[in-house]
Amino acid sequence: APGAQEFIPPQADTIDQLRAAATGCRGCELYRDASQTVFGRGDESARVVFVGEQPGDMEDQKGLPFVGPAGRVLRRAVDDAGIEPGHIYLTNAVKHFRFELRGKRRIHQTPDRVHITACRPWLVAEFARLRPEVVVVLGATAAKALLGPTFRVTRQRGELLPWPAAAQRPEDFIRVPVDNTGKVADAPAARLLATIHPSAVLRADNQDVAYDGLVADLKVAARALR
Ligand code: URA
Ligand code: SF4
Repeated sequence: APGAQEFIPPQADTIDQLRAAATGCRGCELYRDASQTVFGRGDESARVVFVGEQPGDMEDQKGLPFVGPAGRVLRRAVDDAGIEPGHIYLTNAVKHFRFELRGKRRIHQTPDRVHITACRPWLVAEFARLRPEVVVVLGATAAKALLGPTFRVTRQRGELLPWPAAAQRPEDFIRVPVDNTGKVADAPAARLLATIHPSAVLRADNQDVAYDGLVADLKVAARALR
């Protein structure tokens, strides 16, 4: 698979332009069986960006991320953590739905490393346009995409982490004002925080405990906003 990079127009300045280009992505084989590309959505000046795994069945049909049951949990948790719900952007590590057909049912399949790697250029392009302050990675797949295969969400969830070295490229930095004379300095684009995926709350034996843990992690992200 060639990966997504060659499908990203370098002159695409806005999220809308990226989204339009992503409809034609064939960077890996997942475009073949899925209905459509599900690109990120939300506030283009969002200070917090949430990265999930991949679109689910409902997202695949609607063409929008986090419109199903996991999305409902996430939105409630965002609200309970005190993050302004209108000021977030939601996206996924992989932008096509991967599934296995069982009869007529489409059963979610976790994306492989090849899909995560192939699709990562879209994520990096989103960050470069959005320039968020905090990136929240939801679950193991998103964590693998940004923190590498050895990162363990269970061990490091809820910790504010520096922007990962793997992503320290010029386009991952923002220019931030250092004083009121207009002088600017380079700063890492964002800090990163990993937490569980909202669908793990739905699968948990004790959903209340799992949900409270998600909210506690998101409160750390909320406090990190300048
Ligand atoms: N789960 C995800 O990771 N992303 C979605 O968009 C929906 C469910
Ligand atoms: Fe392109 Fe990502 Fe879809 Fe693969 S999953 S075809 S890389 S948008």
